[in-house]
Amino acid sequence: MDRILDVTLATSELPRGGLLLVGVCEGEAPDITALPEWAAPLVQSLAERPGWKGREGQWAEADSGREDVAHVALRGLGKRDALHVRKLAKWLSETASVASLHGVGTLALALPAHELTTGESGAAYAARNLALSRYRYDEYQARPEEPDSLVSVHLLLAGAGEAEARAVADAMEVARGAMTTRDLANAPPNVATPEWMAEHASRMAEELGLEVEVLVTEDLERLGMGGILAVGGGSKNPPRLVRLGWRGGAGSSEPTPMPRVALVGKGVTFDTGGISIKPAKDMDEMKWDKSGACTVLGLMQAIARLKLPLHVDAYLPLAENMPGGGSYRPGDIVRAHNGKTIEVLNTDAEGRIILADALSWAAESKPDYIVEYSTLTGACVVALGSTGAGLYTPSDELATGLLRAADEAGERLWRMPLWPEFKEALKGSHADLRNVAGRWGGANTAAAFLSHFVGDVQRWAHLDIAGPAYIGGEEGDRGATGFGVALTIQWLRSLQAS
Ligand code: BES
Ligand code: MN
Ligand code: ZN
Repeated sequence: MDRILDVTLATSELPRGGLLLVGVCEGEAPDITALPEWAAPLVQSLAERPGWKGREGQWAEADSGREDVAHVALRGLGKRDALHVRKLAKWLSETASVASLHGVGTLALALPAHELTTGESGAAYAARNLALSRYRYDEYQARPEEPDSLVSVHLLLAGAGEAEARAVADAMEVARGAMTTRDLANAPPNVATPEWMAEHASRMAEELGLEVEVLVTEDLERLGMGGILAVGGGSKNPPRLVRLGWRGGAGSSEPTPMPRVALVGKGVTFDTGGISIKPAKDMDEMKWDKSGACTVLGLMQAIARLKLPLHVDAYLPLAENMPGGGSYRPGDIVRAHNGKTIEVLNTDAEGRIILADALSWAAESKPDYIVEYSTLTGACVVALGSTGAGLYTPSDELATGLLRAADEAGERLWRMPLWPEFKEALKGSHADLRNVAGRWGGANTAAAFLSHFVGDVQRWAHLDIAGPAYIGGEEGDRGATGFGVALTIQWLRSLQAS
């Protein structure tokens, strides 16, 4: 079975042998607008059963007495006003689980009209979340004896037409991109070395028709990429820097030149902290320190499959941060690709050092925008928790665009400050910069550090995704989330429209 559910907007014909499930807000009558005629009375009688309220997760079910759709059920969404994107995502995924548990193969799902479920963005949000609701990373597990029964979902949305159907189809590509992100980020660090990541990127490039360039140690030396070489020096798995390029879509004869976008992603395949080694607790989670690079790879897949009429270059600095005889040390001074020198005070602040090289390289071709993704600081997680990412950009225009896109995609971004004080705090005593400032505002000083490496590009943004990129801890659903893919596709679309 595919690990992704096939989601489409329902046409008049409902799937045979499936379940018709109707989401109902608490205290409201079921929304029957999008239902087939025969189902309306049945749905209404279910809602009249004593005890039915529409409370979150509440369930009522009846046989339809028909041959095509055998069962009809209601499932409560809770109070209309209390519904928010996260809750809806959870509800959709639980609904898919319940259907699967009942042995349903095809689910017809009707959602009540609500700002979160209507229009193109509502349809896309529901489709994306349903598509990935049964995702599991089981690459290294014995296959479950009973595979999931649920394979497809037909969405019934009030007032939805062709535009929504297209939005659902596009959302499936975004979901596939996010699944690639999750698969790659979940790969264990003994397998997912910088070289493995680069090979994966090359294979993707071949399949999708992207330009590809993989810089190995000698290339990095020649190009003066002292940051990536320093961070990767302690590992027997040598570092890489990958560039992928997407040049517009087929048949796009735009009169105006297409926007040029650089996407950069931190790819630390494992972060021990290096010589400034991390404590043992939860260190395994540092396999997800490559999440930024994985986000960008998932994005490139979606961009190419959706044939977005843009020029996009992806830059992936890949390194493993290990302690060893070849490691860089606290006290070392390294020179980044743009010539600036960095005094290393803590080898665990390694992300910004590899990003210094990657951002400098990206900035050389003077793109219109640079957007960079990294699990950069624990401080950002302290500030914002794990539901959203910190957004740093000096450009109000870019901030507005990204915040709006995130809002439409149902992902959370919160703008954080790039005050000059933070840049000042990073002035080095023996080099141009030091890689850490004081204890306070650690996410902000990290972002300020990056601002030294974007050259003349004014419209650059850094997304600190340390919180939302993965679910850690001991919980059952721990793993990479694919955060950032949906909001970025939404933002890229807004560029092509303007
Ligand atoms: N990869 C970590 C940041 C991180 C921490 C991501 C927790 C996800 C969860 C990063 O390389 C790091 O170690 N940052 C240090 C910076 C410090 C040394 C200035 C941190 O956040 O403690
Ligand atoms: Mn670190
Ligand atoms: Zn790190």
